[in-house]
Amino acid sequence: MQLTKEEESILRGEKGPRLGELMRILVTVGELNDASRLIPIWSAHLSGVSFKTMGLPGTEFLEDAAKEVRFSVPTTVNPAGYDVGGPGLIRADDDFRWKQERLVRSLLAMGAEPSFSCIPYAIERDPPAGVHLAWAESSAVIYVNSVVGAFSNREGAPTALASAVLGKTPDHGLHRPEGRHPDLVVDVGPSPDPIRYTVLGAYLGKKLGSRIPYVRGVAPNIDSLKEMGAAMSAWGSVPMFHVEGVTHEASRQDVRRLEHLSVDARELAEFEHSLGGDESPNLVAIGCPHCTASELNTLAEVLRKRGENAKPKTEVWAFTSRGVIAANPDVVSYLRKAGIKIVQDTCMVVAPLGAEYPVIAVNSAKAAFYASKKSFSGQRVVFGTTEELIRKYV
Ligand code: F3S
Repeated sequence: MQLTKEEESILRGEKGPRLGELMRILVTVGELNDASRLIPIWSAHLSGVSFKTMGLPGTEFLEDAAKEVRFSVPTTVNPAGYDVGGPGLIRADDDFRWKQERLVRSLLAMGAEPSFSCIPYAIERDPPAGVHLAWAESSAVIYVNSVVGAFSNREGAPTALASAVLGKTPDHGLHRPEGRHPDLVVDVGPSPDPIRYTVLGAYLGKKLGSRIPYVRGVAPNIDSLKEMGAAMSAWGSVPMFHVEGVTHEASRQDVRRLEHLSVDARELAEFEHSLGGDESPNLVAIGCPHCTASELNTLAEVLRKRGENAKPKTEVWAFTSRGVIAANPDVVSYLRKAGIKIVQDTCMVVAPLGAEYPVIAVNSAKAAFYASKKSFSGQRVVFGTTEELIRKYV
């Protein structure tokens, strides 16, 4: 890689061993991926913010880093292991809370914005098209690449941290025009029912691995794009998708020579069936990725149809960001009065909910994927749309 004189000096440890170590991470990743240089970034977004996923070694690493370095670009952070700035709706034991607080304190000391959300593009850091980012939340990465037209690779926690401190990222993959071309065309056939985009995303993610699809035959709205991308990047490692006539760069793609994959409604229905069982849940959890304002409004609309005085029989939690809550007081207040718990700063996957809520109902194929994993929550999952879950269990 061609480094500037300053980058070389940092790499040699002349600005301190910690900066040298972080520069070594970026240069190693760059060299492994044939990047020719480092490029400046507009913002960073960090994952690994819950103690549940980070563990003690990661927390101690961040504590050590916070003694020596600061972020040099705006840096938002993913959900934590409980509602760190909220009213304490998540029950977590004292040991977990103490370790989570240490982790959060370190991130804030380095200059992180206290966003604690996987949708930083909704409020806190809404990137314009064309900027380069180093983001490490797969659902946010696929969204900004596909829908916004910003550029980010799927960073891991260490590379996003290094980029947040150094303000740069290696120029490869999704940062390059040639890294954003589709690998195949996906033709979605007609369906008697509305497409469930989170299901389509999961189905495609499972089939495609890391390939970039050019999807035809669908017309998702902005929330559907978000849920489809999140599922695609969780069930596979797809970093970007194009939807004909919809997404930012779709019209620029030449797809004439690409292979085709056809998806029909029956296949999707069968796949959806595999996402969850049919038992009564202890908890209905909405908001993976975190709810946007329009998703909170959809939930309110569904509840309105049940009648103003109906109170939930099963607990319903809607996970969102503190930024979305602050910007949408009316719908938040309506939902709270309707008996819905609005939970900020954390999510159904990274909070320790498995023991207390062994059966969870979700409207997100990404949440279904992680909640059922033994290494995350080990829960039994019930899957449905928001409307179905509210009608059936609430
Ligand atoms: Fe966000 Fe948690 Fe889902 S971080 S994308 S709500 S798993």
